[in-house]
Amino acid sequence: MYININSTDLFLGLAEVMSRFTLFLLIVFTVSLQLPSIFGAGIGNGVGSRKSTCNLYQGNWVYDASYPLYNSGDCPFIDSLFDCQKNGRPDRNYLKYRWQPTNCNLPRFDGRNFLQKYSGKRIMFVGDSILLNQWQSFLCMLHKAVPQSPYTLTQSGGISTFFFKEYNVKIQYVQDPFLVDIKIQRVLGMDGQRVLKLDQLSNSKGQMWLQNDVLIFNSWEWWPRPKKYEPWDFVSYGTRFHAEIDRPTAFERAMETWARWVNANVDPNKVKVFFQDISPAHTNASEWGGRMGMDCKGQTNPLKPPYPGGQNPIEVILKRVLANITDHKVNLLQITSLSQLRVDGHPSIYGSRSGIIGCGHWCLPGVPDVWNQFLYASLFAN
Ligand SMILES: *[C@@H]1O[C@H](CO)[C@@H](O)[C@H](O)[C@H]1NC(C)=O
Ligand SMILES: *[C@@H]1O[C@H](CO)[C@@H](O)[C@H](O)[C@H]1NC(C)=O
Repeated sequence: MYININSTDLFLGLAEVMSRFTLFLLIVFTVSLQLPSIFGAGIGNGVGSRKSTCNLYQGNWVYDASYPLYNSGDCPFIDSLFDCQKNGRPDRNYLKYRWQPTNCNLPRFDGRNFLQKYSGKRIMFVGDSILLNQWQSFLCMLHKAVPQSPYTLTQSGGISTFFFKEYNVKIQYVQDPFLVDIKIQRVLGMDGQRVLKLDQLSNSKGQMWLQNDVLIFNSWEWWPRPKKYEPWDFVSYGTRFHAEIDRPTAFERAMETWARWVNANVDPNKVKVFFQDISPAHTNASEWGGRMGMDCKGQTNPLKPPYPGGQNPIEVILKRVLANITDHKVNLLQITSLSQLRVDGHPSIYGSRSGIIGCGHWCLPGVPDVWNQFLYASLFAN
């Protein structure tokens, strides 16, 4: 069971509630052994009043000298795409920002607590390299908490597996940027065409996902690419094949297919499903009042809210689709708006492999660490 922190907010969840109410609890608990109903009512009211005032996603980036939560040297497995310090980024201010919700606090990410509570469990991240970014951040934060604890990191068949032996916790990343299927078939008399099937999600894939206790998905990064960089030749929906299609529309159709899969297959008591909201790329500085033709290069500080470029239009599509999912089966990690402010958070020219996506990925340590604080907050919401 978990709570969608969008509408609730829980937080000052356990830590703060406990510290404030510990004494109260001890007294009431002692007295209430014979009065369980009164005990229950009292706690319920306390949490309820907090719910209405706190939205963890509303807030500001504040300078915090104690940040970052780990150093890149603490985390030997950061991909060079994200390891900005190692790649020579000269400024360090961007490492020092903490997300501060307006009316409450994000709970501290307690890696040891996570590993203890999720002992024996399986966690899988499924998506594109922005989710790889988050997966690596998550591993860094856990490894930082238990640096002596042995682990293995292996790769096989497109799946990266990180295993904490001592805790028997497996945390995997599967590259699957469209979530729906790509199949090789004959199209218009041509053999061996790669077809992106907007309305199909194979059973075997779904079954693999369902073997986990926690699933984190994302998509979008690959959808707007120029066709020559796409791993498909045609897009199909129903019986029709298209050589080209409006990309946001195609994304929406695919997300609907994924949402139907969730509605039909996910039992929220067995698997907690998260979706990483759209990660904003900062490729056009005009959006935030910078010079025309510039991107994120040279940005060294976050912006103040609200983001001058307005709401991300793809986020609107995603939310529309996810709204159709029943029974709170999916918890959306609403990181889009707060990440829009972090024009300083990208590798830019300090992501070693390529300039093309330097303003899409994020430096580690950095912004995805905060996304994982939201993930942690949701996992321990009650
Ligand atoms: C960049 O953003 C500005 C302001 O929103 C817009 O007018 C312009 O068309 C954008 N440029 C590109 C290349 O998308
Ligand atoms: C929502 O679900 C209903 C019932 O399954 C379906 O008819 C409708 O097209 C869906 N809408 C969206 C936006 O996915």
